[in-house]
Amino acid sequence: MRKILIVGNWKMHLNTSQASLLVHRLQERVPIHRDIEVVLAPTMLTLQPLSLQIDRRKFRLAAQNAYWRDEGPFTGEVSFTMLRDLVHYVIVGHSERRHIFEESLETVRDKTAAAIRNEITPILCVGETKVERDEGETKQVLHDQLMSALSNLTSAEVADIVIAYEPVWAISDGTNFKEHIMAKPDQVADAVRYIRSYVTDVFGERAGKDVRILYGGSTVPEIVSGFLDVPGVDGFLVGGASLNYHLFSEIIAAANRWQRQGNEED
Ligand code: 13P
Repeated sequence: MRKILIVGNWKMHLNTSQASLLVHRLQERVPIHRDIEVVLAPTMLTLQPLSLQIDRRKFRLAAQNAYWRDEGPFTGEVSFTMLRDLVHYVIVGHSERRHIFEESLETVRDKTAAAIRNEITPILCVGETKVERDEGETKQVLHDQLMSALSNLTSAEVADIVIAYEPVWAISDGTNFKEHIMAKPDQVADAVRYIRSYVTDVFGERAGKDVRILYGGSTVPEIVSGFLDVPGVDGFLVGGASLNYHLFSEIIAAANRWQRQGNEED
């Protein structure tokens, strides 16, 4: 059975005690699901204490970013090597990092490779801006982001990574996700089909089938089952709603209901 993957990206929110409280509340509400993997991506500051607090049968941890060199004179950075053994995943190439922190295609490529070198699964974010979509450039943007990020990887490595399709125009500011514009299922279907076909063409059938693809952008519980119906979608990268224990546990519960309604077959 294909597992569903749900990742909560807390972005730059919650200090140590707030993060601990959220985990406490989530642990009360979220049962152990064999076929749903739930991943929390808190700030770098809280990864270590949360690693001691989380029930590992329910949650795994992700970092939101890391630097691609293993160690050295890079003031302010944390490397993938340092995160080894602490996290299962690292988010790489989030649009906020690409746009606000000007991460280039080459930087995202080097970070993807560094994650794999350190036995951490990258969650590689790709997606077009509103202008790029309006100009009809969505596939070109996805192509360029995928081609550079995956360029140093083998087929087996690509089969194991996670790709998050996050159309930039659908991402909320963390508070307005309930009324924010979001992608329509057919737009997501097109993009996900394109991503899988790119991976299949370049890395072969097995990688195209096995690579996990998430949708991200104003995810709320109400859209979960409709988006899991989109062929090739394996789960969600959730921003704003992951900061609310009620909404995030509802997203997980909705995915569980969807599986139990007999949709679990691939
Ligand atoms: P929202 O769910 O708040 O739109 O954030 C999406 C996102 O950027 C997750 O990485």
